[in-house]
Amino acid sequence: MSTDNVVRPPFTLAEFLDSWDEESPQRAFSELARGDLRRRPDDGTEVLASRAEIVEFLRHPAVRATDGVHYNMGAQRPLIPLDLDGDRHRFYRRLLDPLFSPRNVAYLESRIRTRTSALIDEFIEAGEAELMEALCGPLPSLIFIDLLGLPLEDLPVFLDFKEAVVRPHGATLAEQREYMNRAGQVTYDYLVSELARRRAKPSTDDLIGGFLTTTVDGRTLTDEEIVDICYLLVIAGIDTVTSSLSCQLAWLAKHPAERARIVADESLLGRAVEEIQRFESPVPLAHRWVAEDITINGRAFAAGTTVEVLWAAANVDPANFDDPLTVDFDRPHNNHVGFAAGPHRCLGTNLARLELRVALSEFHRRIPDYRIAPGNTVVWINYGVRAALSLPIVFTPDRFAPRNGGSQ
Ligand code: HEM
Repeated sequence: MSTDNVVRPPFTLAEFLDSWDEESPQRAFSELARGDLRRRPDDGTEVLASRAEIVEFLRHPAVRATDGVHYNMGAQRPLIPLDLDGDRHRFYRRLLDPLFSPRNVAYLESRIRTRTSALIDEFIEAGEAELMEALCGPLPSLIFIDLLGLPLEDLPVFLDFKEAVVRPHGATLAEQREYMNRAGQVTYDYLVSELARRRAKPSTDDLIGGFLTTTVDGRTLTDEEIVDICYLLVIAGIDTVTSSLSCQLAWLAKHPAERARIVADESLLGRAVEEIQRFESPVPLAHRWVAEDITINGRAFAAGTTVEVLWAAANVDPANFDDPLTVDFDRPHNNHVGFAAGPHRCLGTNLARLELRVALSEFHRRIPDYRIAPGNTVVWINYGVRAALSLPIVFTPDRFAPRNGGSQ
């Protein structure tokens, strides 16, 4: 991830608060969740930050995922399913949800472990590493290539594209849009030619194979639909996991007592991952559009209004979570919305959870004891997604732990 030449207007209302802190933004988000501040001071955008209000708002059929004119991140057509609403959106979710069920992503578990272990091999002898570069960046991209069944040498196409759309270059919004459009065109061209290749030589044991054969309401997908789905998956499924893994490892590096608990008892890992996701909220917000005048919980939203929906605030909302600024692996009811809420809740939740749990399991098996490298600090970014852009650690490897989950 790079931050060069990037123009950054405040990404979220939370940045306008005195309590805003790049390293620990949770306090500012928690303040917003109380609902005292409801509009951005720069452009007047309406903001929703309380968990209950967000959930209620997203249930309303007049709440749309786009303004119907502009599409996300360099796309020439609506992203499927993110830019669709109502019946069309439901149609694609019925088709896609089964492909991302826990059962259908489980086959990737051993691959995730092998890939994690191979990346660790590259730095374990050194006793130090910059984890964004050495692990968090490459791992989700490699898994993505495995998932879609693409050639490994095509990886740079996706890395360049997702970097361009998540952090576009350009001094103005128009320049940034143009930059994203150029990157988007390269990806469309790649996906069109890859699909032609795959139709000529069909196989069903990966996701593209699944797209080519799955049917809903008696029909299969067209090439254009498959391209529009894959285009979104590149945007939604790589950087989010990279950022989450970096947040998880940064938090665990700074909290040795809690880390020792998961090293001693791996059955805690699933809950620990969820709780750190709640606290860190690597995807902090989304935007929604209101198609007609509506009132939610006594608050009016006029037709045409854009709304900033703050998952990161909902996740530290004191009205919903006891002691929200404490990370508690034993929290009894962790109903966080880090994977969104409402119709557009994350399609890849099961895969993301699997990637995080298996990568962290393998990492702690081989490197149970680590800390931020003395004299260094973690460099945070909170623009687009929250991530530890630079995560330098030192550690004592467990030299007796077998490589690759003990299977090699
Ligand atoms: C820890 C990692 C992840 C996090 C935190 C995350 C979070 C989210 C959030 C907050 C949304 C809602 C976006 C919005 O409303 O604008 C979303 C939607 C989505 N995510 Fe994820 N995501 C993650 C990983 C993945 C993965 C691995 C995939 C697939 C490979 C994926 C695919 C999608 C798709 C397709 C949508 C759109 C769903 C729809 O519009 O119906 N995500 N995700």
